[in-house]
Amino acid sequence: MLENTLVLLKPDAVKRSISGEIIARFERRGLTVAAMKLMQVSQEQAKKHYDEHREKPFFGELVDFITSSPVVAMVIRGESAVKMVRSMMGATNPLDSAPGTIRGDYATEMSKNVIHGSDSPASAEREMNIFFTKDEIF
Ligand code: TYD
Ligand code: MG
Repeated sequence: MLENTLVLLKPDAVKRSISGEIIARFERRGLTVAAMKLMQVSQEQAKKHYDEHREKPFFGELVDFITSSPVVAMVIRGESAVKMVRSMMGATNPLDSAPGTIRGDYATEMSKNVIHGSDSPASAEREMNIFFTKDEIF
């Protein structure tokens, strides 16, 4: 099943200049970049994107972090791309993410865990619309 998924390389990834390495992993796997831009996420976009976590104690910190400096926003496309990207990302908490996964190779802290990837095709559809217009997705 050919799918699109929304990926954000978070401010920590951009600051550490590891965006290229992460994009290369997706391309090497056989996934393709269907949209990509360096952008400053607004408060409004951040709150919409993380709406499911609105009531969580870490929500404020999460919104502050994702809006703290630019991110690389991408639409990644491929066979079962949603699940494929999630498995390449590794567990949310870097303490649990296996070496060889993106978080397992690059992250030490839950709050600065390098990457976001949509968790379902429905989330992907919703999240792509927050960051991209239709004509930006090729
Ligand atoms: P979540 O959607 O659960 O994880 P994922 O990014 O793997 O889909 O949470 C969103 C982000 O919120 C997560 O990447 C890091 C942050 N977070 C915390 O800071 N503390 C927490 O306890 C959790 C669960 C998440
Ligand atoms: Mg999530």
